[in-house]
Amino acid sequence: MKKRIKLFDPVIGSKEEKVLLKALKSHFWASGSGIGKVSEFEHKFRKYVGAQQCVALNSGTAALHLALTLFDVKGKEVILPSLSFVSTAHAVVYNGGKPVFVDVDPHTLCLDPVDVEKAITRKTSVILPVHFGGMPCNLSKLMKLCKAHKVSLVEDAAHAAGATYQKKRIGKHGNAVCFSFHPVKNLAMPTGGAITLNGKNSSKQKNVLSSLRWCGISDRKGVTYDVNKLGWNYYMNEFSASIGLIQLDNLEKTNNIRRKIAKRYSKEIQVEFKMLFNKDCSYHLYWIQVKNRDRFIKQMEKRGIETGIHYLPIHKMSFYKSQEKLPITEKVGKNIVSIPNHPNLIENKVDYIIKNVNELA
Ligand SMILES: Cc1ncc(COP(=O)(O)O)c(C=O)c1O
Repeated sequence: MKKRIKLFDPVIGSKEEKVLLKALKSHFWASGSGIGKVSEFEHKFRKYVGAQQCVALNSGTAALHLALTLFDVKGKEVILPSLSFVSTAHAVVYNGGKPVFVDVDPHTLCLDPVDVEKAITRKTSVILPVHFGGMPCNLSKLMKLCKAHKVSLVEDAAHAAGATYQKKRIGKHGNAVCFSFHPVKNLAMPTGGAITLNGKNSSKQKNVLSSLRWCGISDRKGVTYDVNKLGWNYYMNEFSASIGLIQLDNLEKTNNIRRKIAKRYSKEIQVEFKMLFNKDCSYHLYWIQVKNRDRFIKQMEKRGIETGIHYLPIHKMSFYKSQEKLPITEKVGKNIVSIPNHPNLIENKVDYIIKNVNELA
């Protein structure tokens, strides 16, 4: 039987094995008492994205949760897309805020700035865009809106590690940018996430977040410490950081492979709606839209190709059941399918995927 083509697949090699063994044998696995890989990762990732500070955490969900603690969210509104992983909205609720779901641009599936502007009220505290699939949002317009309405910009960049817009926009990122290093992400770890911070308060904010990620512990002096706030157990471990450093070294190369595949898909796949090609995109995933999705997914599976749905709209989930009318999100939510795009795909597999999508879509 032919090997099934996976939708996502982390790229690993002998270097990852070596550093894992080194961390294992060090006997120091937690970041505070570890072998310094977490702080090395923070330093290198911060420089890579061109941010002023970086705080490493144990997931993208933790990154969103903690990033929003820096802003005045309790009892306020946060504008976000419904077309995202549910953590984007949960982070608002963890902070006592109200998610206000806004429709997306049909070409990028990122927040539509025109709709964002209509949704801003006196209660808006934060705009929280998602760089969908690694496609950069219209940050210039969102930043202008934030400035005009005195609200903060927190980016959900869970899909966007290594999206080249980040490097070109040094100093022009949102107040906080949240990354996920979940095993299927472009920069993969067993679990992991990070917040990069920008602006004049970033050094102070890093100190606050460093305490929050470890149960609110502060003022450590030798073996004594204080706890002046409620915190969480969100720190990154040394195994994740060790793998992450190797993944970071390879990120340009692996993202370029994703871009090459996406370029072929965008030219050769014959469907009405598909992800466009943009050289600044990190192509964490590649989406197309098909009319008969259930049938398409089953037929692709029969032909040995795994597909997925990213995402079912959050505002339709029973926990949220939000009343917003989001026609584009709702249509996309019914038709969207992700097809394999990862650096382990060799050319003849890409040929095979294109041929089958064109036959079945
Ligand atoms: C858009 C988006 N935001 C947030 C997250 C949460 O990241 P994690 O799984 O690392 O908690 C994910 C991950 O799946 C995601 O895709």
